[in-house]
Amino acid sequence: MTTALDREHLQAAARDHLWLHFSRHSAYEIGEMPVIVRGEGAYIYDDQGRRYLDGLAGLFVSQLGHGRRELAEAAARQAQQLAFMPLWSYAHPGAIELAERVAGYAPGDLNRVFFTTGGGEAVESAWKLAKAYFKLIGKPTKHKVISRAIAYHGTPQGALSITGIPGMKAPFEPLVPSTFRVPNTNFYRAPEQFGAPDDLERFGLWAADRIAEAIEFEGPDTVAAVFLEPVQNSGGCFPPPPGYFQRVREICDRYDVLLVSDEVICAFGRLGHMFGAERYGYQPDIITCAKGLTSGYSPLGAMIADDKLMAPFLEGENSFLHGYTFGGHPVSCAVALANLEIFENEKINEHVRDNQDAFRATLEKLMDLPIVGDVRGDGYFYGIELVKDKVTKETFDNDESERLLRGFLSRALFDAGLYCRADDRGDPVIQLAPPLICDQEHFDEMEQILRVVLDKAWSLI
Ligand SMILES: Cc1ncc(COP(=O)(O)O)c(C=O)c1O
Repeated sequence: MTTALDREHLQAAARDHLWLHFSRHSAYEIGEMPVIVRGEGAYIYDDQGRRYLDGLAGLFVSQLGHGRRELAEAAARQAQQLAFMPLWSYAHPGAIELAERVAGYAPGDLNRVFFTTGGGEAVESAWKLAKAYFKLIGKPTKHKVISRAIAYHGTPQGALSITGIPGMKAPFEPLVPSTFRVPNTNFYRAPEQFGAPDDLERFGLWAADRIAEAIEFEGPDTVAAVFLEPVQNSGGCFPPPPGYFQRVREICDRYDVLLVSDEVICAFGRLGHMFGAERYGYQPDIITCAKGLTSGYSPLGAMIADDKLMAPFLEGENSFLHGYTFGGHPVSCAVALANLEIFENEKINEHVRDNQDAFRATLEKLMDLPIVGDVRGDGYFYGIELVKDKVTKETFDNDESERLLRGFLSRALFDAGLYCRADDRGDPVIQLAPPLICDQEHFDEMEQILRVVLDKAWSLI
């Protein structure tokens, strides 16, 4: 715990110098900036010693929870032995061993691992690979990307261009051209056009067929890739309807378009499997991942590509002219290896699979509240959509959403001891993705805090 004087200094220095990400700094002119100083298990602690349940695993990252000595020690050992070596024409044992291990978990022929420092760089790398690959195999016009409405794929200009959230892109337009949006799989708000509002499977096929339509509109010989998350995060956890990804795979094969599974959130146990593609039984051409690969003890991302995509780069003078100084950092690779070892030893995926129904059932208790319209997700990854009217599914207008989410909920949940996210990139949702070590006692704690705070929110509307 920091002393009162330290705290005053920290707040002043933060206000004067620290630029937070995706944050409205005006809010801190009157209010204090929350300062988190330590973590243990599923909990984080602020500089006044207050404890919060980490309902978002930091940012979908802390799979094994906080304070794991083995991971800290793995980092220290590696830093002492070899703190840095880039993967630019040289290798180090940690990157080799990790590439082999990750390829072993990845489905099918996804055997080639290109390391980055995070998820946005992995997405960026995947698009660049798709473009460069098609040029090398004699299809140089294939370069466009299809992605889904409201999906978030990162902040580098290529990844942001693939992102489907207009408000997040507007300040940076013009972005990289050649990306196109199709509907996501939000069944709660399934559009009328597909004609069978209660038929989930039919809705999924309808949504998948929009991808074929977009490819046809753009011209199949211009489209390189489709980027999809196994469960779309932004908008509040949209799982794929049964058959959705199988139909998408057929479409990608038909038009020779690469299927990129953006698993920056969904990989490494979030859905009870190493990869979301395994959970839903589909075969991507590329997987992008990051976050849970190290459980956040050091930054690391990866693009995992099918053998066929690397094949042309193995010939003659060809090379993939792309890289990052810190991609595949030795310390991060050592941490990732230790992290994946713990996944095996402690049967983390099995733990998620054994407890996921209980997590869902506990959150679904909240459906008795008038403000809760939908509880959706999979594994340890859920969104709770808030509505003004449960029967008509009427949502909040911008002002109400602003007052509800920013003005009240985010802070009230935190003050009540739950760190999670109230988000309105689509309709207003509370996002929950706790560390994968959580069990019933944590689910109950989340439910109880949410019940009290959502009840209060309803009374304020
Ligand atoms: C699906 C998806 N792709 C890409 C990213 C970007 O990852 P990063 O913030 O590590 O660049 C995120 C981040 O949350 C994500 O959820």
